Amino acid sequence: MQATEDLMKKIMSLSKRLGFVYQSGEIYGGLQSAWDYGPLGVELKRNITELWWNEMVRSRSDVVGVDTAIITHTDVWRSSGHLKNFHDPLVDCRECRSRFRQDHLEGDRCPECGGELTEPRNFGLMFKTFMGPLEDDSAVVYLRPETCQSIFAQFQNIVTSTRKALPFGIAQIGKAFRNEITVRNFIFRSREFEQMEMEFFCNPDQWEKWYEYWIQKRFSWYTDALGIRKENLRLRKHEEKELAHYATGCTDIEYRFPFSGEEGYGELEGIASRTDYDLSAQMQGSGKDLTILDRETGQKVTPFVVETSGGVGRTFLMVLLDAYHEEEVAGDTRVVLKFHRNLAPVKAAVLPLSKKLAEEAQKVEEILRPHWPVVFDVTGSIGKRYRRNDETGTPYCITFDFDSLEDRMVTIRDRDTLQQIRVGIDSLEEVMRGLMANGWEEQE
Ligand code: GAP
Repeated sequence: MQATEDLMKKIMSLSKRLGFVYQSGEIYGGLQSAWDYGPLGVELKRNITELWWNEMVRSRSDVVGVDTAIITHTDVWRSSGHLKNFHDPLVDCRECRSRFRQDHLEGDRCPECGGELTEPRNFGLMFKTFMGPLEDDSAVVYLRPETCQSIFAQFQNIVTSTRKALPFGIAQIGKAFRNEITVRNFIFRSREFEQMEMEFFCNPDQWEKWYEYWIQKRFSWYTDALGIRKENLRLRKHEEKELAHYATGCTDIEYRFPFSGEEGYGELEGIASRTDYDLSAQMQGSGKDLTILDRETGQKVTPFVVETSGGVGRTFLMVLLDAYHEEEVAGDTRVVLKFHRNLAPVKAAVLPLSKKLAEEAQKVEEILRPHWPVVFDVTGSIGKRYRRNDETGTPYCITFDFDSLEDRMVTIRDRDTLQQIRVGIDSLEEVMRGLMANGWEEQE
């Protein structure tokens, strides 16, 4: 327990010190559960969302993307059932005033002091605001608590514009807001967060095939594209009693977060078979036809949906935790973030051995800058600079030394193996291209 708490503390402090994540409004004491991504964090976050977008949209002919409004028409939430049902039952202790979610309690007395609890009150999870100048009931609108509902509401428009035939998917990455009662564990659970969701529409007879397909596909994204260690991930199939009444299956992809439950896993993403529930609900609420002709069978159907729904913040936290290593090197402890090269916020650091070499070394940086995020680091001993770049997870350090002036060669050092190779400056771009595509082990 001690070690795991320490790891979270280390990750939070490193995040702030190096510029991955800061607390929002920190100079005013900080806004609880609101986080700002710093210069390294924004690169890492973009790498995650771009890898997802490439995998789920760009590389496939059967999925299209959208980007819909955060403030969504209130009737969308009325039809989806959120207005009526998206709340948590809260109870207060009459003695010590502690507050709990009733469905998280085992007994009917306060777990803190044994005091008597109040009757449960429903606490709405959607953020409310007003649209326009009047702050009355008619102007109330909501920030979306999930990104997928607008996909269902826009279903007919998207089908008409793209002429997609079943089976096909619609994907979106965007912010979602939930006024969570308890927020904890850094960015794992916050009130403003980002989702990566994809709704896959298919003939009602085919949902099982697609449900199984997307479970495997999504799991392998974490291991193959993000390089997360397989032994830290697992699939958890929901039991019957956990399923929503309309769902025919749900499987979570979970990561062994240091803070999570008895078995030590926390949810990253859910893959759910949601039948035709959402489209039917939007169809009923709007009175519009959201059915589609299945060109294969000639039937008019309300498609079934298999949803994949993951959180950007949780993926980000997992990537940091999985990458974090402390290692003994030459009698010294180095902290190194072993990000997969796809994820590393900075791909290479150009290091002149001496300040006198800075001008020449800068020309090497200029070769790389149009293609990759790189840093030029001139201050401190070379050892210190290696450590600094290990800590930010930069896979390759490129050293320009006095010989480089003569032989026009530089040394590339690999962050993980600490091996070095010497390559000609003329071929540096090509070598980097090979390293970025295949990694150090696979280099020619
Ligand atoms: N459309 C289905 C849906 O929204 P969910 O299980 O409520 O399902 C999906 O959310 C994912 O969104 C979760 O697996 C998690 O990664 C992320 N998520 C949900 N609530 C979150 C919160 N308060 N903070 C951070 N991420 C959250």
